[in-house]
Amino acid sequence: MSERERGTVPHKAVVRDAAEADIAAVARIYARHVETGIASFEEIAPSVEEMQARRRKALDCGAPYLVAEFEGAIVGYCYAGLYHARPAYRYTLEDSVYVAQGMGGHGVGAALLGELITRCEQGPWRQMVAVIGDSGNAASIALHRRFGFEWVGALRSVGFKFGRWVDVPIMQRALGPGDEPPLPGASAAPAR
Ligand SMILES: CC(C)(COP(=O)(O)OP(=O)(O)OC[C@H]1O[C@@H](n2cnc3c(N)ncnc32)[C@H](O)[C@@H]1OP(=O)(O)O)[C@@H](O)C(=O)NCCC(=O)NCCS
Repeated sequence: MSERERGTVPHKAVVRDAAEADIAAVARIYARHVETGIASFEEIAPSVEEMQARRRKALDCGAPYLVAEFEGAIVGYCYAGLYHARPAYRYTLEDSVYVAQGMGGHGVGAALLGELITRCEQGPWRQMVAVIGDSGNAASIALHRRFGFEWVGALRSVGFKFGRWVDVPIMQRALGPGDEPPLPGASAAPAR
């Protein structure tokens, strides 16, 4: 992956594994998006405890949960979890990436997603799916395109938030060898 693909962050945010202590800041970032945006279809911001439980669940499948830190503050986070729990989906991840409001457009999302993909390609997974809230979510669509996600299609008007119907675009990219036959001995953690 090129330096550009990995995301050169102009202001040198550091991307690293999230620690339990980061999750209060992560919860604040997500809460703003839940309460003011349509990228998330939740309507009530989850508690810090709930976000901690979600992190543990994401880590259970073996994929990373990352934060971007800039000048001591968490300015974004990103993780991958199994796309669906049923066992036949075990080679397919879904990514989630959120950047603090006011910090968008500076490469933080690219730095996070680039690192997430790099790390996930070292694991057994073969596909990554982006389930995007709103076909007008230009930032998320551009971010995923930049990392080789292709447009699969859009579920029309499956969400209703802030008084309007919301589409759900689906984008997808292969991880590593993609749908080449599974390598001997390769296995992904079974869904829980
Ligand atoms: C989507 C999101 C994570 C992007 O993070 P970001 O730090 O703003 O993105 P970057 O600065 O790294 O830019 C990545 C790409 O998106 C483009 N982009 C960023 N903001 C944009 C905007 N408002 N409109 C159009 N394109 C935009 C950049 O130009 C760049 O594209 P390029 O590489 O082709 O130049 C961020 O906007 C966000 O948190 N949005 C709300 C939550 C969300 O939609 N998450 C995705 C859920 S799957």
